Order: sequence, then C-alpha cells, then structure tokens
Amino acid sequence: MVNAPAMPSFSGKVAVITGGASGIGRATSAWFARAGARVVIADRSREEGDALASRLSRDQGDALFIETDVTRPDSIEATVARTLREYGRIDCAVNNAGLSETPIDLTDATPEHWTRLMSVNLRGVFLSMQQEIRAMLGSGGAIVNVSSRTGLVGKPRHAIYTAGKHGVLGLTRSAAVDYARHGIRINAVCPGLVRTPFVERKFGDGLPALAAAMNPMGRIGEPEEIAECIAWLCSDAASFVTGVALPVDGGAVA
Ligand SMILES: NC(=O)c1ccc[n+]([C@@H]2O[C@H](COP(=O)([O-])OP(=O)(O)OC[C@H]3O[C@@H](n4cnc5c(N)ncnc54)[C@H](O)[C@@H]3O)[C@@H](O)[C@H]2O)c1
Repeated sequence: MVNAPAMPSFSGKVAVITGGASGIGRATSAWFARAGARVVIADRSREEGDALASRLSRDQGDALFIETDVTRPDSIEATVARTLREYGRIDCAVNNAGLSETPIDLTDATPEHWTRLMSVNLRGVFLSMQQEIRAMLGSGGAIVNVSSRTGLVGKPRHAIYTAGKHGVLGLTRSAAVDYARHGIRINAVCPGLVRTPFVERKFGDGLPALAAAMNPMGRIGEPEEIAECIAWLCSDAASFVTGVALPVDGGAVA
C-alpha cells in the first residue's frame, strides 16, 4: 500500500485568504484549517463567509470570517489590523478575490467595464499586498497571488481580464524581488479551468465540452488541486522559491 504524503503542518500559523468563502478560496481556507492554521476568510460575502468559518471551526480548527472588500483600502486595512489584534501575526496571505469577465470585444468594452474588473482583480491585489507585507516586515511570511492561465497567455475576447491577470504577475515578481531580503516570499499560481461557482455561472451546460477541449489532460481542474499548490508555495518545502508564476492547468499553457 502506498501511504499518502504527509500534509505540511501549519500549526500555530495564521493564514489570510481573500475571496476565501467560495471556489478556489474556499478550498484553500479548508486546506489551511485542516493543516492546523488559524484561518481568516476575508470576503465580501457575509453569508457564505460566516457559514464556512462556523463549519471549519466546528470540524477542523480555528477560522474567522471578516467581511472585506478588497477594492477599498480602509476595508483591507481593517481586516489586517483585526487579524493582528486577534491572532498577533500573519504568516501566509492568499490574494484570491477576483471577478470573471463576460466575453467582449475590446472595441466594445467601456471604461466602466475596465474599472469594475481592474478594481478587484489588480488594484485589490495591490491594496491587499501592501497591508500584508507591512504586517510581515520583521517576521517574514509567504504570499501567493491567484493569477490565471490568462496571466501567461492571451485569451480571445477577454482583454481586460487578461491584462489584470498579467498585472498580478508583474506585482508578484516586483514585490518578490523587493522583499526577499525581508524573508517574505511572494509567488503566484496560474490556474486553468477550475470547477467553481465562478465558472459554473459563466459556462453552464457547455462546461463538460469546454473542459474536454481546454488542456492536454482533457478535464477540468478541482479547486482542491489549486489549493494544494497554493499551500505548497506557502510551506517551508518551497523555502527557496520566490517570484514564480506556477501554471496549474492540466498542461494548457504547455
Ligand atoms: N475558476 C477558474 O477557472 C479560474 C481560473 C483562473 C483563475 N481563477 C481566479 O481564481 C480566483 C477565484 O476564482 P473562483 O473561480 O474561485 O471564483 P468564485 O466566484 O467562486 O469566488 C470568488 C470569491 O471572491 C469574492 N470576492 C469578489 N469580489 C470581492 C471583493 N471586492 N472583495 C472581497 N472578496 C471578493 C467573492 O465573494 C467570492 O467568494 C479569481 O481571482 C479568479 O480570477 C479562476
């Protein structure tokens, strides 16, 4: 019999996950709770966030929901301040909150469309990183930003989403270089198509056919498969890894 590999322990560590109430963020929150971390679910959805925090605290460990809107500097600042008050430190931060884009030609997209997507997908990551890095200066830590396969390649009729996800990689690499000497590692994951509410809403019944054609593995990814990679990048197993953009996409970019 082959034994399952041991899960790295995050016992005593504190992990903040933006957009942690649904999809990839939800799987990541559950992963960290299972590994013994104290988890802060920072999401704008109170209902889902509260329910998940209660479930994780009951079944797996210690989780706290803090209602957060990553587009508002005061909101993310308050979330980090409350985390420090409650738990005293932040060891890991996962900047995952994001919006999908309805396919649209670049020539039809409006400035409002740009602002809506970029305010969450790029500015939200910037604002979150600022607060998280300030909290980690002195103690060190690990940050993982959730970009996308479309952070690495173009995608038809998704120019603004693609630009935002490319931007997340620029922020990741620059900050990784700037804060490496402070013991803060900053990486990104680039998921391909993953089965989440975000994707189920967008593709509906067309999802199985799309998934089959999407990558060499011919299947959709599961949120837990992204969470595993995020957790690895946060763990000591990745202690010499910073500034990478890791595709987790069934070979789509390859
Ligand atoms: N699902 C995919 O196929 C896929 C592929 C590549 C990248 N991604 C990226 O993964 C991340 C998570 O996507 P998902 O599919 O799990 O989506 P999802 O819609 O299931 O979850 C997104 C979460 O972010 C939260 N959120 C949205 N705006 C917010 C804000 N302003 N402040 C705080 N929280 C906010 C939502 O409430 C929700 O809980 C996104 O950044 C997305 O771009 C997803």
